[in-house]
Amino acid sequence: MISFLSINNLKLSGRKGKSIIYKKIKLVYLRKIFTSLIKMKSIVLPAYNGNVLRAMLGLKVMEVDIPKISDEEVLVKIAAAPCNPSDIAFMQGKYNVVKKLPALMGFEGSGVVVDAGNNTVAKSMMGKRVACFTQSQTSGTWTEFAKIHYKNCIPARDAIDDEQASTLYINPITAIGLIEYAKQKKAKAIVQNAAGGQLASFIRMLAKKEDITVVNIVRKPEQQQKIIDQDNSIVLCSATDNFEEELVETIKAEKVDLCFDAVGGEEAAQLFNALEPNSDLLIYGGLSNKDIAGLNTMDIIFKNKKILGFNALDWIGQKNESDFLELTNKIQSLFEEKFIQTSISGIYSFDEVVKGLKYYIQNMSEGKILIKPTL
Ligand SMILES: NC(=O)c1ccc[n+]([C@@H]2O[C@H](COP(=O)([O-])OP(=O)(O)OC[C@H]3O[C@@H](n4cnc5c(N)ncnc54)[C@H](OP(=O)(O)O)[C@@H]3O)[C@@H](O)[C@H]2O)c1
Repeated sequence: MISFLSINNLKLSGRKGKSIIYKKIKLVYLRKIFTSLIKMKSIVLPAYNGNVLRAMLGLKVMEVDIPKISDEEVLVKIAAAPCNPSDIAFMQGKYNVVKKLPALMGFEGSGVVVDAGNNTVAKSMMGKRVACFTQSQTSGTWTEFAKIHYKNCIPARDAIDDEQASTLYINPITAIGLIEYAKQKKAKAIVQNAAGGQLASFIRMLAKKEDITVVNIVRKPEQQQKIIDQDNSIVLCSATDNFEEELVETIKAEKVDLCFDAVGGEEAAQLFNALEPNSDLLIYGGLSNKDIAGLNTMDIIFKNKKILGFNALDWIGQKNESDFLELTNKIQSLFEEKFIQTSISGIYSFDEVVKGLKYYIQNMSEGKILIKPTL
């Protein structure tokens, strides 16, 4: 069989017309080869398990059917897919997406469109490299092929490699959405926790552009020094004895009136209580896996302090196609200029996925682990 690589590397030499013909032949070959395949390798979750280690150990590499696409979907040959906290929560059965078991893993990735439905935009993506996202019951990105709605694909510019492209969708959109919220609130300073993570690093960079001060909170002392060295930012460590007093003082001194919380639980309550009147606590993650207790009720009633949630998918759901295009162009430019980049701590094959996941949950601040079907 002709390999994908040889097709992909077809030289488009000669005059322009000739190269267009070669391109068309290449697309026809792509579709022919990949639609003739029936099975693909995938990482499959057979059962949810609240114990993260047991959930990971339960994962299986299996041959499954390649999903059938509808008119508005494309089939992406996955090049790389990251593991995000949402994947960890999902396999524990603690995420807002619950799939019928056995389930395909992975929500985000990058790759080449090798088949497309009849929709005009979907068809226009044939042969293109895309960043993609899916929460479909019958798809996943820790697979050889993923079916994706065309609206959840961002064509990736050449300067952005497959690894960075695989992280182009959810975190950059979320960081931009959060900063938009800060701008609407006219916040001059924000406080954020889980500050050693990738999304938090994007928030720091985007905030700098808008002249918004960021007070960062990490839970490990080594993270504190790392961020100070990288960004010369204000960083507090929640593990220090006087953290609470330091937090209150810093919020007052920096005139913080907005908090981005990715942790929930006790830490969210601590942050809320430390905020000044007229401040907002915007919760976008639940890394502690705990509900929030211990909020100061009087502050909510008498100090005009608000608690809100932020979900990137709802935020982009409110955008029309041209606004979404503008947003994705902005993200591509930020990655192309290397203004923001995702740190990657390791790349793993399907067979090494448990090893990779174990490394990730113990070293989240080092960066994402990626899964590559071709390894
Ligand atoms: N709402 C939305 O639309 C949306 C979209 C995208 C992402 N998110 C959420 O954003 C959060 C960050 O995502 P990410 O991709 O940046 O993650 P990431 O790069 O994997 O980093 C996670 C960070 O959180 C820290 N952390 C983990 N558990 C913690 C805990 N219990 N308490 C305090 N810190 C903790 C880690 O620090 P250590 O090194 O100390 O473990 C690490 O620095 C996640 O909750 C994710 O689900 C939400």
